[in-house]
Order: sequence, then structure tokens, then C-alpha cells
Amino acid sequence: MGSANLRKISTVVSLVMSKFTIGNRANISAGEHNTRVAVITYDHVARIVANFTDINSLGDLSTVLNKIQVSNTADANLYE
Ligand SMILES: *[C@@H]1O[C@H](CO)[C@@H](O)[C@H](O)[C@H]1NC(C)=O
Ligand SMILES: *[C@@H]1O[C@H](CO)[C@@H](O)[C@H](O)[C@H]1NC(C)=O
Repeated sequence: MGSANLRKISTVVSLVMSKFTIGNRANISAGEHNTRVAVITYDHVARIVANFTDINSLGDLSTVLNKIQVSNTADANLYE
């Protein structure tokens, strides 16, 4: 995956997640934002980029997604 495709995926994920009420508030009956989102990247190693408690709005998610970079390790490619 190149950098351009990574940006496309980030855009699509943000668009889809904009339909949800992102947040860590627990009281559903009060209409609080309670769709929890975390972000994990992987190449040959999986990394937690943001835990559930780090993302409390669509803006937080966009900030996290915009910081993700394409891996440059050779191990990131799939083997045949
Ligand atoms: C959740 O919100 C409802 C409606 O505002 C309220 O009646 C209830 O006490 C709240 N529950 C908690 C655990 O805060
Ligand atoms: C996420 O939570 C785990 C477990 O508590 C912690 O080890 C890790 O450093 C956290 N990562 C971030 C990006 O906050």
C-alpha cells in the first residue's frame, strides 16, 4: 500500500465513523457519545496507535489517522 492509498483509506474510515457518536461516555440513556474507537497499525509488528480512551471525537480520530505513515520495512510486504 502506498501513501496515496493510505490517505484514501483514512478518508473513508473518517467518513464512515462520522456516522457514529464517538466518545467514551457510558450513559447511553442520556444520549452520551459512546462509540469507542481504537487504531492499530501493522507491518511485521502490530502497534497500538491510539487506545479507546485516546479518541473522544471524530476530530481526535482524524488527527490519529493523519499521523499514520506507510511502513518502509521490507517485511511489510506479503510473501508469495
Ligand atoms: C443516565 O442518564 C439518565 C438520563 O439523563 C439519568 O436519569 C441517569 O441517572 C444517568 N445514569 C447514570 C449512571 O449517570
Ligand atoms: C495503550 O494501552 C496499552 C495498555 O495499557 C499501553 O501499553 C500503550 O502504551 C497504550 N498506547 C497508547 C498509544 O497510548
